[in-house]
Amino acid sequence: MLSGKNILLCVSGGIAAYKMADVASMLVKLNADVHVCMTENATKFIPAETFSVLTKNKVYTDVFDETPDDYINVPHISLGTSADCILVAPATANIIGKIANGIADDMVSTTVLPARCPILIAPSMNVYMFENPIVQDNIEKLKRFGYKIIEPASGHLACGYDGKGKLPSPETLVECVVYETAEEKDMKGKKVLVNAGPTRESLDPVRFITNHSSGKMGFAVAKAAANRGADVTLVTGPVSLETPVGVNRIDIESASDMYEEMTKAAAESDIIIMSAAVADYTPNEVADNKIKKSDGNLAIDLKRTQDILKTIGEVKKEGQIIVGFSMETENLLENSRKKLISKNADMICANSLKTPGAGYQVDTNIITLITKDDEEELPLMSKYDAAKKILDKVLTLA
Ligand code: CTP
Repeated sequence: MLSGKNILLCVSGGIAAYKMADVASMLVKLNADVHVCMTENATKFIPAETFSVLTKNKVYTDVFDETPDDYINVPHISLGTSADCILVAPATANIIGKIANGIADDMVSTTVLPARCPILIAPSMNVYMFENPIVQDNIEKLKRFGYKIIEPASGHLACGYDGKGKLPSPETLVECVVYETAEEKDMKGKKVLVNAGPTRESLDPVRFITNHSSGKMGFAVAKAAANRGADVTLVTGPVSLETPVGVNRIDIESASDMYEEMTKAAAESDIIIMSAAVADYTPNEVADNKIKKSDGNLAIDLKRTQDILKTIGEVKKEGQIIVGFSMETENLLENSRKKLISKNADMICANSLKTPGAGYQVDTNIITLITKDDEEELPLMSKYDAAKKILDKVLTLA
């Protein structure tokens, strides 16, 4: 995901510095060329050697440590200026104050100063230090100058206090770097509405009807669109997936909740991608109390839900692109072509539950992209890569 990208980690002296070994390792696994510079204090929490072994690159801790070989490249300048993205984490109150005020008196503050790439700053400190108006003022100043602040998490802090100030998990930090750098921002300015996951149709206070959708395909579409710079809203049924960085998430339960949220947001959207497995039927009546068993069989009366894609397709606005999914177990292409026409969609992403590697729960998919003019069968690939292909095709239709 980060092939060819140069990521610079700037580690300052907070207890959470040890978490940065995981961050470095995860970025290396995504094929990034990872460089690290540290303050002297950071080396008291984690040795520089840990990072040099993980990244296979020399780690710099002191501007005056530069060897004669380094004079050609001048690391405190070249490290920052050659990076595609810089992550300052953990960022102590001290390093935040220095960067916000143009002070350059250690390896990290000196290296950040000449950099022109996106700079992410992850504050990590005691809750009262974080809430101190001087620190907050410095953070606001950094935001005004275009630095991106990764909000600290709340929880039990190493100093013994409970509150806001924890360095977010390595996974979150890596996701923030991926969001900044993984893709060209070719969807900037586009409003994208995506839906995902199953719906739940209640029978009584205890039971509901649902399906096997995991939401993975829709979340991959939302993530790929956000990584490409789009303004993304994701309406999702109950799933156990993390919200992708930069995505505005709306949680719903039933097909009728999904209908409400999607029709509300659709008019404002340039691109609508509907991957949710919306229930076609819902119980005619929801029992107020738990339905008790009896000796005989039980029949449940179901009524049709509204077809959201069809409704949105009927009022499609000029220039809007609408994409549906089609999940079939037989006659995949024939049935999907019918949905393209009957729902007035610009594209249907057809996938068969019977093909190994495709369908619910798994991380891969095999999709055929069907438009009025052509059909493109994609090979087996990750849902994220499939999402990128869907977006590539959408951009040719726009
Ligand atoms: N869809 C929808 N509202 C529904 C049912 C489906 O918006 N009540 C959307 C899905 O999100 C998907 C597309 O319609 O983008 C096709 O869904 P699919 O389940 O494959 O087909 P259905 O239209 O439900 O038809 P059938 O179940 O008969 O295959």
